[in-house]
Amino acid sequence: MSTSSEHPDWTTTGFSTRAIHAGQDPDPTTGAVVPPIHQVSTYKQDGVGGLRGGYEYSRSANPTRTALEEALAAAESGGLGPTADGSPAARGFAFASGLAAEDTLLRAVLRPGDHVVFPNDAYGGTYRLVHRVFGPWGIEHTPVDLTDLANLDAVRAAVRPGSTKVVWVETPTNPLLGISDVSALAEIAHEAGALLVVDNTFATPYLQQPLALGADVVVHSTTKYVGGHSDVVGGALVVAASAQLPGGLASPAGGTDVAGAVGFHQNASGAVAGPFDAWLTLRGLKTLAVRMDRHQANAAAVAAFLEQHPAVTQVIYPGLASHPGHEVAARQMSGFGGMVSFRVGTEAKALDVCGRTQVFTLAESLGGVESLVEHPGRMTHGSVAGTALEVPDDLVRLSVGIEDVEDLIADLDRALS
Ligand SMILES: Cc1ncc(COP(=O)(O)O)c(C=O)c1O
Repeated sequence: MSTSSEHPDWTTTGFSTRAIHAGQDPDPTTGAVVPPIHQVSTYKQDGVGGLRGGYEYSRSANPTRTALEEALAAAESGGLGPTADGSPAARGFAFASGLAAEDTLLRAVLRPGDHVVFPNDAYGGTYRLVHRVFGPWGIEHTPVDLTDLANLDAVRAAVRPGSTKVVWVETPTNPLLGISDVSALAEIAHEAGALLVVDNTFATPYLQQPLALGADVVVHSTTKYVGGHSDVVGGALVVAASAQLPGGLASPAGGTDVAGAVGFHQNASGAVAGPFDAWLTLRGLKTLAVRMDRHQANAAAVAAFLEQHPAVTQVIYPGLASHPGHEVAARQMSGFGGMVSFRVGTEAKALDVCGRTQVFTLAESLGGVESLVEHPGRMTHGSVAGTALEVPDDLVRLSVGIEDVEDLIADLDRALS
């Protein structure tokens, strides 16, 4: 909760300063330097409607969640600068999970008959939401390769001006680590009157800030790198203040801005982050930059090791010169992240590697301090088997943690031999 103006304008400071301070002024009553966990559902009113600081009921707003929402908005707002009237350039919204955030966004901006352009490689749960939850409500979608940087005509062909309301992008993608050109896709989406939504979970706001590249909305599973310790499930939306609802849609709350509509739906549907989850996520955000530096240094070393290993047929890491999206990634990201995928020729070999590591834990999810290994085909992406998003069955995905890199490489060497 921002209560003091005795600090710099956080929009002008560096990423780590924003992540540690924005939205997190010392508590005005006690001076506590960390926002307290406001484990409370309701707030005393000073006479009917006399709210203290705007707090009425914790589904609508809670001070710990507000701190997280302001911090996330500041983290994603690098390069945007303040608006002409000094209001924030983006608004943050925290949810109970990444999918709850996505569900709320799609309900806020789509109506039956609308169409979504969707990546042909993306988190399986997002595809399941678009395909199997929104499909029966009359939302159509077209999976397209959004990472074929030389052939954006395929994206132009998939967009249906007038009915495409969202172009959904993940970059890097999960699990094939494909790179999309956010600025180019923003142009295509906007020409068609659609919003560009970027799932920034893999890159994190430390390495990539899609709003400054032209995106309208950023989505996060904060369960991953933002939380960073595999101890909380959460999600977030960060919406550019300038983003307008597509197709002349009006928000049920009145107004035509996307942020207003998302705010209405967040309260009306109610899938909000609880106070303790918000507090844990905020704690993670403060150390995001230093963790990411180590994640990606370890990932680069692991990718280099795997590239020369005879049992590995392909290594997929945007930091490798061999990656087709390397140049675009270098332009729009300030680092290549902590995820590495690789192929070993057969499903049996992939399952074998996943079962033999000792330092890499066999588990779903990613982005925590501990290294994880998984088989996307059978685990995180099992729900897209038989669809356009099916992943190769010999693929292994690593979430490279921040342990000592020699131990990680020795573990993989043992598992591969
Ligand atoms: C890229 C990406 N987006 C969204 C999600 C969904 O987030 P959550 O599991 O927090 O609902 C995930 C989960 O793995 C993910 O990897």
